[in-house]
Amino acid sequence: MAATNTEVWQAGTVVEAESLTAQTRRLVIAPALPRRAEPGTHIDVMVTINGERQKRSYSVVDSSEDGQQLAISVFLSPQSRGGAVFMQELQVGDRLEITQPLQNFPLRVGAPRYVLLAGGIGITAMVNMARVLRNIKAEYVLVYAGRSRAAMAYLPQLEELHGEALRVHVDDEGTALNVDELLAGVDPESELYMCGPIRLMDAVKRGWQARGLSLPNLRYETFGNSGWFDPEEFVVRVPRLGVEATVGAGKSMLEALEDAGVDVMFDCRKGECGLCEVRLLGVQGSIDHRDVFYSERQQHAAAKMCCCVSRAVSSDTGARSAAATERAVISIDL
Ligand code: FES
Repeated sequence: MAATNTEVWQAGTVVEAESLTAQTRRLVIAPALPRRAEPGTHIDVMVTINGERQKRSYSVVDSSEDGQQLAISVFLSPQSRGGAVFMQELQVGDRLEITQPLQNFPLRVGAPRYVLLAGGIGITAMVNMARVLRNIKAEYVLVYAGRSRAAMAYLPQLEELHGEALRVHVDDEGTALNVDELLAGVDPESELYMCGPIRLMDAVKRGWQARGLSLPNLRYETFGNSGWFDPEEFVVRVPRLGVEATVGAGKSMLEALEDAGVDVMFDCRKGECGLCEVRLLGVQGSIDHRDVFYSERQQHAAAKMCCCVSRAVSSDTGARSAAATERAVISIDL
């Protein structure tokens, strides 16, 4: 049966767990209600952080034909929030709550040409798509960009499977991806699917529009966990409620508000639905919008933000400068 977007929660058991890179762990989960995972699907997983249950989303990297085994990969960065830590610590035999495969990044079969673009851990959304395109003998290239080969999960397997259809760009080898060059080679009939850091996806979106390419042919997946700037600790105030909370670098503003007893609406927790929107009353510093809910114009207006993923930073220069020693402070209302 094909994947749907109806959330059906079920038990899952970890049947394999292995480290692919220093920061990436692959988990194979056996669900109680098997369902085959189509390309572009993800599962939601219930994690426990400080005793609290929260939902996290992970692309299905691959699955058995009968859906008895679903593989995901978890990336742990220095800024990872508690969910990634919880997931990385899972061992074979552990049980957890998961959904069936959910689809919001479908692969449209039938396009004349495909470009699949993955940055870093974004490869997890592309592995299954690329395999399907190869199997149906579609014309495709898989472009995989990363900081170093050692940090690029699934690289050996992809090289073996896709051969010349795989293009690898590695920052520390001096072959970093040039988005303009990539898009210059994209013809109007091609469909581009991408998943990766927000900077990369934003550059592709701008370039795509600048070239007048068809917007429906550009499709992307985001899990709302990367931004324009490194996460910093900042302060959020809710004057109407007399609340002030510190948002640590490894925590989301939504989590900090919840910890402070503030009731905030939310659903996706990945910057897609807009339910966690808060109104900005004042900002000392800048807002690092990490959502895909607002348009670029709305983000520049700096009147609202999605507190599940977006953050405040003390400097808008792209890095915390020596001059920017003060923490950013934002005042909001709900
Ligand atoms: S909860 Fe969906 S955008 Fe924040």
